[in-house]
Amino acid sequence: MSETAAVRETWIKVGELAGIPRLGARVVCTLFGNIAVFRTADDQVFALADRCPHKGGPLSQGMVFGTRVACPLHDWVVELKNGRAVAPDVGCTPSFPVRVEAGVVWLKLALEPNVAAAAVGV
Ligand code: FES
Repeated sequence: MSETAAVRETWIKVGELAGIPRLGARVVCTLFGNIAVFRTADDQVFALADRCPHKGGPLSQGMVFGTRVACPLHDWVVELKNGRAVAPDVGCTPSFPVRVEAGVVWLKLALEPNVAAAAVGV
């Protein structure tokens, strides 16, 4: 009989909020691929897989406006809150919880216990 290991949720320190340009993004490299951490004009922070739901373009290099980002490849617009493409386009990229505490940005990942410690190369 095998046991199923519980998934461990881990908060990863991304860095200072000031280190992310307003209307820009910083990329965090993980075992699960690159995650783009976006900062809006009013300092809201969101995290999405750095992979457009259309053909995988790097959303981190797109133009942020409001709480959306326009993909640099074919201009699809993606909601930063949930990774969903804005109609008429259809698709979704994974989103991740983030929080800001005392000017520091934290990113939450759900990891298998054996890889939790080695998962992030920030
Ligand atoms: S890859 Fe993003 S719009 Fe085509």
